[in-house]
Amino acid sequence: MTNSQLLSVAVEAAKAAGNVLLEYARSGFHIERKNPINLVTDADHAAEQCIIDHIRRHFPTHRTLAEERGVDADISSSYQWIIDPLDGTTNFAHGFPVYAVSVGVEYERRLVVGVVYDPTRDELFTAEVEHGALLNGRSITVSHTVQLEAALTVTGFAYDIRETINNNLDHFAHVTLRAQGVRRTGSAALDLCYVAAGRFDGFWEVKLSPWDMAAGTLIVREAGGRITDLRGNTHSIYQPELVASNGRIHDEMLDVLRENLRS
Ligand code: IPD
Ligand code: CA
Ligand code: CA
Repeated sequence: MTNSQLLSVAVEAAKAAGNVLLEYARSGFHIERKNPINLVTDADHAAEQCIIDHIRRHFPTHRTLAEERGVDADISSSYQWIIDPLDGTTNFAHGFPVYAVSVGVEYERRLVVGVVYDPTRDELFTAEVEHGALLNGRSITVSHTVQLEAALTVTGFAYDIRETINNNLDHFAHVTLRAQGVRRTGSAALDLCYVAAGRFDGFWEVKLSPWDMAAGTLIVREAGGRITDLRGNTHSIYQPELVASNGRIHDEMLDVLRENLRS
């Protein structure tokens, strides 16, 4: 099987799920709370089911790891699809139109395909390993900003923000004082794609999950960006920390983040 076959199924699945989200946004949805600030809606579940059905139709032997339903532990396959059916649920629930569907595919634990679809802007970010990154079919690259002082950065906060001191607020304060700006969009998948497209120069978070990052990290790398953990070590989507940048401001970002790292 070729990566481009995987990519075309991932694109179809992400677009179909994006349309499911738009339909729920138009017609109404039901909200449940995983904790006081961590929401899930029936739109998340319906979009996830749509993606899983799509994958099953084309690749019934592939394994899936999806945010709401977890992993198919009984399927053993070299292929694993990593799915966030709605990244930016809080935004979606409030009618703030910044959310996306994220679908990444691993072959033997290596990311080979990434698709992030923003249905409200009809923006489709795609990457196939060693073939570059695209936005709606056009090649994208990271920005050329060389100094943090001139950089627009972005971050996010996990749902346990009220329960832990490892809640990213200290990093947020530090980077805010050093960068040109810091944003918080509420969708890690889009944050990564915006680094890939040069809209942001850098992004960090301390507690992401594989489905938040799988597609987006491949898209950043294929757009020429750099990704590490907060200490500058090799990044894995199975570890929660992430620093993604245009490469040029990466070391400076790491220096600022290291200033208040707990050992
Ligand atoms: C969240 C978003 C947010 C990030 C959180 C994620 P969800 O995902 O990506 O930007 O800051 O850490 O959990 O819950 O909207 O899929
Ligand atoms: Ca997410
Ligand atoms: Ca989600």
